Amino acid sequence: MTAQARNTRKLHILTHGCQMNVYDSARMADLLRPIGYETVEAPEGADMVILNTCHIRERAEEKVFSQLGRWRKLKEEQGGRMMIAVTGCVAQAEGEVLAKRAPFVDLVVGPQAYHRLPELIAAAHRKTGTVIDTDFPAEQKFDFLPDDAAPQGVVSFLSIQEGCDKFCSFCVVPYTRGAESSRPAASVVAEARRMVAGGAREIALLGQNVNAYHGEGPDGKIWGLARLVAELSDIAGLERIRYTTSHPNDMEDALIAAHGTNPKLMPFLHLPVQSGSDKILRAMNRKHDAAKFHRIVERLKAARPDIALSSDFIVGHPGETDEDFAATMKLVKETGFALAYSFKYSPRPGTPAAGLPQIEEAVKDARLYELQAELRRQQYAFNDSKLGQTLPVLFTGPGRHANQQAARSGYMQPVVVEHSTDLTGQICEVEIIQSNPNSLLGRLVDKEKRAA
Ligand code: 5AD
Ligand code: SF4
Repeated sequence: MTAQARNTRKLHILTHGCQMNVYDSARMADLLRPIGYETVEAPEGADMVILNTCHIRERAEEKVFSQLGRWRKLKEEQGGRMMIAVTGCVAQAEGEVLAKRAPFVDLVVGPQAYHRLPELIAAAHRKTGTVIDTDFPAEQKFDFLPDDAAPQGVVSFLSIQEGCDKFCSFCVVPYTRGAESSRPAASVVAEARRMVAGGAREIALLGQNVNAYHGEGPDGKIWGLARLVAELSDIAGLERIRYTTSHPNDMEDALIAAHGTNPKLMPFLHLPVQSGSDKILRAMNRKHDAAKFHRIVERLKAARPDIALSSDFIVGHPGETDEDFAATMKLVKETGFALAYSFKYSPRPGTPAAGLPQIEEAVKDARLYELQAELRRQQYAFNDSKLGQTLPVLFTGPGRHANQQAARSGYMQPVVVEHSTDLTGQICEVEIIQSNPNSLLGRLVDKEKRAA
């Protein structure tokens, strides 16, 4: 056995929640690799397990405690030789509670402190009890991320912005992720280049408020998202660019225009609106009304007629009447969404709406049911609308069955294509011959016409 192999420790990371967490987990693995941690698929036999958590809704938190319960048993079976760390937004918001309710957890680290993980692990080895680091440091987290972050796959995620200053009445993000901060453009472009060199053809730019991006440009000026996207689209070999998640108020003119002029920008936008009632939008502190959302959608469609939208909705926010909910249904029907996520309002401790009189659970259930039925209908209709069309799709790898390749349309739809040879990384024209609720079946039209 070599010294290298003897020193290798096994690290298992389980990620809950958003793409931002998926990205952060990969960065934590990058950070710990140089000090001997190699990632493994299963927690059994691991020297360290990390649960990267999400705090956005109540049920997410309960999931954390049941997962930790399972790992506690495993830790006992391994004679205590397993360090358990909790990271992410539950760590940030509930650090002390977590340490009390799950004292077998060795380390609790908030999203602003990941760069300190190696020293925190050392501290946890020295100490009994839970080591907690949930400080918001004055320095920017982006300054500490390793510069040589590893490439991901054909579709890669790149974090460019963190945090949120918007303080929607229902949301914990401003408290758990802190104020908005943007990564310098040069660092984003450098990482994108490494991703493309490693095989990425599509990059999704991530941020809690990604279109509020205002990073320092190499020219010393502050760059908005439109400027950054323009720069990224000059990278040869990068074919597709997306960004998520956006706020309607940050859909600046240049970004809307870019959807019409930049063919690398995909015709699909996730733009959460949350409600169609102006009264509830005001109560939510969204600082936009339904008309403003409609105007943005119209302008996006004028710039890029084939653009499709996805969104987030909350039903049962305090104060929501039947009329308010009807306004949400009206907005949904008028807009038409290719995809949407909808949730029952769940009170999050410390947020303004949590202290208000709450809507009955049964009412929330009924509204969610009605909303989801309509959103599902729209999703199926959107998939059906692609039947018979020829679309460019990006091949991401072999399909589940032999002779099948997996691909993605520009609208994020999974597309299965019957084909025996591997086409990973290529963009080909495919005719859609079958539409399923969650995927499409396609036939390769012209193998010679590959865009990349
Ligand atoms: N209750 C229900 N849904 C919520 N979301 C955020 N906070 C809450 C909450 N307290 C939803 C919003 C947001 C998405 C990521 O999660 O719709 O856009
Ligand atoms: Fe939360 Fe998004 Fe509102 Fe920010 S803009 S507070 S992340 S819902």
